[in-house]
Amino acid sequence: MKKTTKFLTMALTAVLAVCTLTACGGDSAKGNVITFGTNPEFPPFEYVTSNGVLGEFDGIDMAIAQRIGADNGMEVKMESMEFDSLLVALQNGQIDAVIAGMTATDERKETVDFSTPYYTATQVMIVKEDSDIATAADMADKKICVIQGYTGEVCVQDMGYTYEAFKKGTEAVMELVNGKCDVVVLDSATAQKYVGDNEGLKIVEDASAFESEEYAIAVQKGNTELLDKINASIEKMLADGTINDLAVKYTEEATAE
Ligand code: ARG
Repeated sequence: MKKTTKFLTMALTAVLAVCTLTACGGDSAKGNVITFGTNPEFPPFEYVTSNGVLGEFDGIDMAIAQRIGADNGMEVKMESMEFDSLLVALQNGQIDAVIAGMTATDERKETVDFSTPYYTATQVMIVKEDSDIATAADMADKKICVIQGYTGEVCVQDMGYTYEAFKKGTEAVMELVNGKCDVVVLDSATAQKYVGDNEGLKIVEDASAFESEEYAIAVQKGNTELLDKINASIEKMLADGTINDLAVKYTEEATAE
């Protein structure tokens, strides 16, 4: 009898130890919580506001993250960090997923796995209204601004042009407004937002120079358990028009200000 009790205690301790390590009973590695990382400097996808859909965070991506949590009975936590740090934090396990208007590029696919894409974008050029820039080639002898680590930076780099990189979109746009640079290369919907917010700017598109890009959610390589949940939710939201409605809603809000 005594022996049995001792054995049971030991067995129970062992089970408990394993449970602590793997968070038994939970849906994810950290129990019933999904921790996303974002960089909330990218309206209309993510920005900080007084009363957002996820605490201080609002935007298309934040509304999508909220629904992914609801669909899977998981609590959603959002961590704010620099865009450059997101994939490192994901690989470190500091966050479970990245939702940040992030383009699923081949280079990034080498280190993380991406969900089903949920939005198609392209790079555009923001210029002053009286600018003579009409195509990407016209940037050759101009002062170009990009945002550090964004696909726009990679595009300009690949074109072989010199440029200055800023930490935030707003900083690059201020540089343009103040006449210190001639063009900002940035994702279309975000560029639209900045043009709406600042007088005297316009957007120039060049579909032959900038390929279309697809935004997707990133998870750690091989985390199929979480990826399957995210994909099921995204596919549902694409099929029933939720994502489309969110895009319309937040784009209108962004330009109405
Ligand atoms: N789509 C671009 C990229 O993947 C820019 C994304 C910026 N997102 C952000 N939340 N700051 O590089």
